Amino acid sequence: MAEKIELKWYEKKQGIHIKQKITAEQKKQDAAEKRRAEKEEKDLLEKKQKQRRDKIEHIQLQQKKNFSGRKLSSLFDPSSVPKDATEIIENFDDIISSSHPLNSKQKALLPQQIRALSHNLTDERGDRRLGYMNETTALSAYVHYFLWWNLVRLTRLFANMESSFFSFDDSGVFVDIGSGPLTVPIALLLARPELRKKNITCYCLDLSQQALAFGEDIFLSVAARLECNTWKIVRIKGNLDSSLKEKADLVTCANMLNELHDDAQMPPDFLAKKYTDRLVSFAKSGTSKPRILSIEPGDPRSARLVSLMRDSFIRKGFVPVAPCCHCRTCPMDGKKGGKWCNFAFSADSAPAQLKRISEKADLAKDRAVLSFAAVEKKPENETCDDMLKMRIASDPIRLPGHRTGYYACSEKGLLLAVTEQKLFSGELIVTKVPKKQMPIDEKSGAQIINL
Ligand SMILES: C[S@@+](CC[C@H](N)C(=O)[O-])C[C@H]1O[C@@H](n2cnc3c(N)ncnc32)[C@H](O)[C@@H]1O
Repeated sequence: MAEKIELKWYEKKQGIHIKQKITAEQKKQDAAEKRRAEKEEKDLLEKKQKQRRDKIEHIQLQQKKNFSGRKLSSLFDPSSVPKDATEIIENFDDIISSSHPLNSKQKALLPQQIRALSHNLTDERGDRRLGYMNETTALSAYVHYFLWWNLVRLTRLFANMESSFFSFDDSGVFVDIGSGPLTVPIALLLARPELRKKNITCYCLDLSQQALAFGEDIFLSVAARLECNTWKIVRIKGNLDSSLKEKADLVTCANMLNELHDDAQMPPDFLAKKYTDRLVSFAKSGTSKPRILSIEPGDPRSARLVSLMRDSFIRKGFVPVAPCCHCRTCPMDGKKGGKWCNFAFSADSAPAQLKRISEKADLAKDRAVLSFAAVEKKPENETCDDMLKMRIASDPIRLPGHRTGYYACSEKGLLLAVTEQKLFSGELIVTKVPKKQMPIDEKSGAQIINL
């Protein structure tokens, strides 16, 4: 409360008539008032925030309830990658420099060498020499950029694939064709801890002896950091036509066939059959269950080759295990105008140093992409007739009427799965086979299924 008080003589002289004195009580009351107002404002804000949170939760819950599918697995769930593997990949430059340190001049030149190699592997393929991996600068650029990115991609994929695909007896045999710096064996050792104790013999075959030797050093450094048994690495200088002493339980071939394909004059279906025959020739036969994994970069040409090879494997009595969830005609075969099969995940969580090098080389990427076919020799899995499996094979697509859809591959052909549920490229979904005929999407020709 303001209280009137007597004016001083000099105040009267100055023409002041009245003066209000703020008492201590008044100050207290004002401060309390201010606090009350501030609290009310804060409470209101918190209430609004809670209402917003509740609304989002409600929508998510509703979306989950409305979702008629069930997620079976994903191809790229980061939480499946073992913690020690993530740490090693994060600091992979330490591993490389422990066996092959660069001086400051070499470090400064690295981004431009990576850029040159990248052109060589993509848009200037015609100029690439067959033995490019024997050149010291190309090999160093490969290891510091491509090997590292491939480990990010492959470790994620291997950690999420069915463990049975990578199962070995204690003395299993594994063959990696076009092994380069042993990218696939390193990724497998990182991704699958259950294999670290096994006495696996790993044949690594490549045209470049240098790349294999460099890779073996890196493999041994990784095994030492993981404190695990090292597999028996057998380096073979050779090509796809070479033959080995032993047949393999698992044959892998990553990022190589597109190089052969570039140089070949024959049509892709002929080449696909030839490559398939060669890969199968490295695998065990008879009663054992050999598995073959072919991985190529996620570009339309490579995806077409992978799809043709998948057909060829099926004709040879193999069954696709991933990404395909069926043996029928591939609905994303990469023919002109059609969809091509590739899977991607965000590169946000890639190692910071790898992203830095990529930026310096003008090769920054926001997504890691690949196309692949994993097949095994066994009778086709029995599937329950009224269930339909589909592999999500696109990013979200905005549809008219504020709807979202995803292209998906299934035994029924290409699907456009429409759902409010957020899905990711590579997820495997199962749902009931729709009773009615599915409508056709005019743009893509896909059958529309609401999940
Ligand atoms: C792009 S690198 C891939 C290396 C490794 N697989 C990876 O994914 O990082 C291709 C490798 O295939 C090898 N290569 C190319 N043609 C080959 C052939 N006909 N037979 C064996 N290796 C070959 C090259 O020497 C090179 O090391």
